[in-house]
Amino acid sequence: MERKLKEVDAMAANHMDNGFYGQDIISVGQFDRTKLDYILNVADEMKVVVERFGGVNLLQGKILANLFYEPSTRTSSSFMAAMLRLGGQVIPINNVQYSSVTKGESLPDTVRTLESYADIIVIRHPEVGSAATAARYAGKPVINAGDGVGEHPTQALLDLYTIVEGLGEVGGLKVAMVGDLKFGRTVHSLTKLLVNYPVEFIFVSPDILRMPKDVLDVVDASGHLYEESEDVHDMIGDVDVLYVTRVQKERFTDLAEYDQVKDRYVVDPELMARAKERMIVMHPLPRVNEISYAIDNDPRAAYFRQMRNGMYIRMALLAAVLGKA
Ligand code: ASP
Ligand code: CP
Repeated sequence: MERKLKEVDAMAANHMDNGFYGQDIISVGQFDRTKLDYILNVADEMKVVVERFGGVNLLQGKILANLFYEPSTRTSSSFMAAMLRLGGQVIPINNVQYSSVTKGESLPDTVRTLESYADIIVIRHPEVGSAATAARYAGKPVINAGDGVGEHPTQALLDLYTIVEGLGEVGGLKVAMVGDLKFGRTVHSLTKLLVNYPVEFIFVSPDILRMPKDVLDVVDASGHLYEESEDVHDMIGDVDVLYVTRVQKERFTDLAEYDQVKDRYVVDPELMARAKERMIVMHPLPRVNEISYAIDNDPRAAYFRQMRNGMYIRMALLAAVLGKA
């Protein structure tokens, strides 16, 4: 992929060979082990910087356009916090109904507009492929913050960071993904990212919400083993990572179908009593009913740490793409 940033300043010159400089971040397929190690290490450094100093002025003079066509709490505010903690500034467009999108402005024109004010664009949009479309029209780097039921690559990076933080390494782990594997973009990205490591997958879902074939094809092609199941009780005692997802109500055309499956899996103290002592429970959040509040204080509950890690990963990505990491 051609790098987009042509101008080189003195500081960036040292950091252009990080493999991220000037790149769009659209899919986890872009990352190999070298890039993953790099970004996890930079995220570690960002964590130390935030804990010690609150931030660092690496991106002073840079502006992020944060363009969200779908609801978000974590992704939107953690990208914002990441940019602010790095000394940059943000144009937040969270309510597209108040932008010229409502007047019929197209995605390409919206992106062209924003890049004339900003140095980098983060986009969440309901259509699969929308971030790639935005990237095609933008001369500045574009980061995919969720394209419909497609991918959520920065979430997968923060998930990976959380797995390493919680369990030390990824190799040899049994990873179970539970819930809405059909519409959940986070599990699509995480599965495709984890094939970079020797893990085993268990996909647990109701029949109508099974992992899509294109994702299973990636697992097959990589030579990894996976099982599919409808029951979480069968395997809970074996898993190292239990990655729980929300049933994505907004993606259903038939709400009666949603009602049938919405409360199929609930992680509660009774289920956790059957889990290993050393394992972690993850969830991209927001949760609805699928994780009981009664396990929030269980040390194995990693979902709040996961959410916080999003800021460090996004600091690392912004700094790397803008040539300052
Ligand atoms: N926040 C995640 C996403 O946007 C997961 C979810 O909404 O359930 O994909
Ligand atoms: N995990 C996640 O993407 O959360 P938001 O939808 O709140 O951004």
